[in-house]
Amino acid sequence: MPFIRESIITTLHANGEPHITPMGAHETSQGLMLAPFKPSATLNNLLRTGTATINYTDDVRIFAGCIIGQRDWPTVATEVIEGVRLAHCLAHTEVKVMQQDADDVRPKFYCQSVHEQTHAPFHGYNRAQFAVIELAILVSRLSMLPKQKIETEIEYLHIGLDKTAGEREFEAWDWLMQKVTAHLQAENPTT
Ligand SMILES: Cc1cc2nc3c(=O)[nH]c(=O)nc-3n(C[C@H](O)[C@H](O)[C@H](O)COP(=O)(O)O)c2cc1C
Repeated sequence: MPFIRESIITTLHANGEPHITPMGAHETSQGLMLAPFKPSATLNNLLRTGTATINYTDDVRIFAGCIIGQRDWPTVATEVIEGVRLAHCLAHTEVKVMQQDADDVRPKFYCQSVHEQTHAPFHGYNRAQFAVIELAILVSRLSMLPKQKIETEIEYLHIGLDKTAGEREFEAWDWLMQKVTAHLQAENPTT
């Protein structure tokens, strides 16, 4: 199994506006691989521009925000590719697509790093950040999951959140839980 960096991918729309989305960057022997499920704005932008920025951040509000539709995070221009990176990230990698594997469900984009830069120190792992990222993935798949699995996972993730979260993690968790509550209510309006 490849090592996957859970990252924020920034690409450019045709009108030059940035598109910001959480996505895994898979480490391969040749470089980094992005695998967006169809349909996806990131996929369209990768096909058109052949470039992307992989942003590494410990601000999990960006993961949660994108999943609930809040995507207006500050960006600045990249150094080598024509694109943007998150203004507040720990580090970023600018990549060019070297090879594509077309697929009806999940095309693969094999990329080469053309520039990498560190902007701030990494201050260690945090269980609440893990919990928020897991909840963000769960929220992005709510319609595919049974109610019981949703509730069991949230109960487990809440342990790490309660023990280790700061303000950013609690805020991100609350945004995501609003989506979970709305989903469960829509599924079962009497509860
Ligand atoms: C931590 C995390 C990792 C994700 N990884 C992927 C991924 O590898 N591929 C994908 O298609 N979506 C992934 N998603 C879901 C996307 O962020 C989401 O579906 C988004 O809508 C992608 O579509 P877009 O390119 O139109 O923004 C991930 C979400 C999270 C929270």
